[in-house]
Amino acid sequence: MRLTVIGTGYLGATHAACMAELGHEVLGLDVDPDKIAALQAGQVPFYEPGLDELVATHIRSGRLRFTSSYAEAADFGEVHFSCVGTPQKAGEQAADLSYVDAVIEGLGPHLRQPALVVGKSTVPVGTAERLARRLATIAPAGDEARLAWNPEFLREGFAIEDTLRPDRLVIGVPAPGDPAEELLRQVYAPLLAAGTPLISTDFPTAELVKASANAFLATKISFINAMAEMCEASGADVTQLSAALSYDPRIGGRFLNAGLGFGGGCLPKDIRAFMARADELGADQALTFLREVDAINLRRRDRMVELAREQCGGELPGRRVAVWGAAFKPNSDDIRDSPALHVAARLHQLGAQVSVYDPKAMDHARKAFPELDYGYSAIDVAQDADVILHLTEWTEFAQIEPQHLAHVVAQRRIVDGRNTLDPHLWRDADWTYRALGRP
Ligand code: UDX
Repeated sequence: MRLTVIGTGYLGATHAACMAELGHEVLGLDVDPDKIAALQAGQVPFYEPGLDELVATHIRSGRLRFTSSYAEAADFGEVHFSCVGTPQKAGEQAADLSYVDAVIEGLGPHLRQPALVVGKSTVPVGTAERLARRLATIAPAGDEARLAWNPEFLREGFAIEDTLRPDRLVIGVPAPGDPAEELLRQVYAPLLAAGTPLISTDFPTAELVKASANAFLATKISFINAMAEMCEASGADVTQLSAALSYDPRIGGRFLNAGLGFGGGCLPKDIRAFMARADELGADQALTFLREVDAINLRRRDRMVELAREQCGGELPGRRVAVWGAAFKPNSDDIRDSPALHVAARLHQLGAQVSVYDPKAMDHARKAFPELDYGYSAIDVAQDADVILHLTEWTEFAQIEPQHLAHVVAQRRIVDGRNTLDPHLWRDADWTYRALGRP
């Protein structure tokens, strides 16, 4: 099939390459000419394992190319995926829908033949219905320019795997039997043949599936981080607590890792946008618990700053703090709402001399936080450090031998913000090891 993918960020670039991998002819569109030039040359402008290769493979195979012209996209495709971002509005909780609207306004007037526009972005419930009406109004094809909603659940770092082997496909259509469903079944035929469950539903349910999935995941993380606060107050160990909980299949062990909490371009802004939408719909009480989920999450960052201060003898000005990790999670160079950089910047404000190292996110971190120092390795930033803070759980940090650092640092003190280092290893090598939620 001939597909277009509009917006070539994490979601769109991955979706475009994966659709080519499924055998479709794909045209990616972005309004940023630099992004288009890079992608057309087979370079992905962000770090996502395996994506460079997949894009390059399909540029060579001829099934994937890029443009910045809506007219060309409209002529080319029978199905158009809208994959643009819905960031948090500046100074507000709600989502900024200007990019989502711009896709409809940009593409719609060029749709002269029957076409399907498929929204994949995370949007406030009610958006799809509004966009469908607008599309039919501005497209020369009128009602033959249809809309469907097909939320995306991919995780950064596993984006290709999650797109080619999703745990489910959700399709929202305006009414049962809408031809959009059949078209999307054809697009995803190889995934359906492999047994992927498909839920076909109405617009609001499809929109809510995504919002509530992210709310649930955020709640699970904040639940265990609230238990970490209880552990700190009572001398218990949250890692053993979560291991014990995980054997109950009704609870399960995934997303139960206590630590510095969630960040990134999705969970934090999505739970806030969800609350804002509930407010607009007069259902604010249904989601007040998410305010607490957000607050628990942010308190973990404050606690880490306090632990760092404690380890520096109660004084931060002039103390040297080594920060391991800048990305919001490992296997990503994404620093949007990164807990690690939030803590690093706060310590800097409080007078500490903070030096940061991350295997992939250095360029982004430098641009966003030029006031911080940066080093070329985990060992480098640990030079003369009064404390090391482990804030993003890259595998390479867990492989560092404490003995190798003993004569590098000023004080053998480490705080594990992700509970993935081995406390025995560090304590046996005469380090003070502290962590969130553990004695
Ligand atoms: C998330 C959702 O998982 C995905 O389905 C949705 O499409 C987009 O948002 P992503 O932002 O890529 O994906 O990251 P995810 O792997 O979910 O992690 C989110 C944050 O939670 C990270 O900061 C991570 O460090 C943190 N986290 C995750 C925890 O603190 N503890 C856990 O147990 C799991």
